[in-house]
Amino acid sequence: MITTRTQKITILDDITFAIPARSIFTINGPSGSGKSTLLNMLTGIDRPSSGRIIFAGEELRVRSENQLARWRGQHVGIVFQFFQLIPTLTALENVLLALELGKSKLPRRSWRLRSLQCLDLVEMEQYAQRLPSELSGGQQQRVAIARALANDPPVIIADEPTGNLDSQMAHAVFDILTRLTQYDKTIIYVTHDLDLASRATAGLLLRDGRIVQQLHTHLTSGEQR
Ligand SMILES: Nc1ncnc2c1ncn2[C@@H]1O[C@H](COP(=O)(O)OP(=O)(O)O)[C@@H](O)[C@H]1O
Ligand SMILES: [Mg+2]
Repeated sequence: MITTRTQKITILDDITFAIPARSIFTINGPSGSGKSTLLNMLTGIDRPSSGRIIFAGEELRVRSENQLARWRGQHVGIVFQFFQLIPTLTALENVLLALELGKSKLPRRSWRLRSLQCLDLVEMEQYAQRLPSELSGGQQQRVAIARALANDPPVIIADEPTGNLDSQMAHAVFDILTRLTQYDKTIIYVTHDLDLASRATAGLLLRDGRIVQQLHTHLTSGEQR
């Protein structure tokens, strides 16, 4: 429920689900169904008016904005629809900046290597010195994924990350995110593309702020986040 100046609006209602650790989990639904609001709950940007969010076994409690920002920096990497790379920085510098902003505890002399390793995970190491304008949309999104990985968060959250890409590039980016589950990452992927959603480990379908379907294609792990 969101309280505006004039009224209270219920955006999400009766939402209960668990995301299996090390899975790729899709949140699917038409525009306006509440997908972004749900993601904002998971990252503490929005707070539910009732109910709880358990993140990696720990309840997401009310914290100060500062504490929350620090928590987010360590626990979630975010990938945006429009990449949001800094246009004047190279691919490598964009990843390095995430280490700087995330106040990485790694020794500074290892930052460059760490950034190159992240670029390598998304098959972009050979483009490390390119500016975003010198890369295709799919390549820019891979750099954005590398940036999200920089501080080694257990969870990557992507809000329509392939909404701006053609189908072939979208599937390539999806493949890369799927592969990250082998490195113990849990991927939460918002999409309105049913084709991609059908390739996920599990997921749910939202409509008008309610879960209308839960999808578990090949769920085996008993462990849940
Ligand atoms: N702060 C807000 N105040 C009023 N309405 C909001 C607010 N945030 C979201 N909404 C409404 O909630 C619904 C869900 O929005 P959103 O989570 O952005 O959907 P989606 O990401 O699925 O397109 C929409 O109808 C939107 O207009
Ligand atoms: Mg949205």
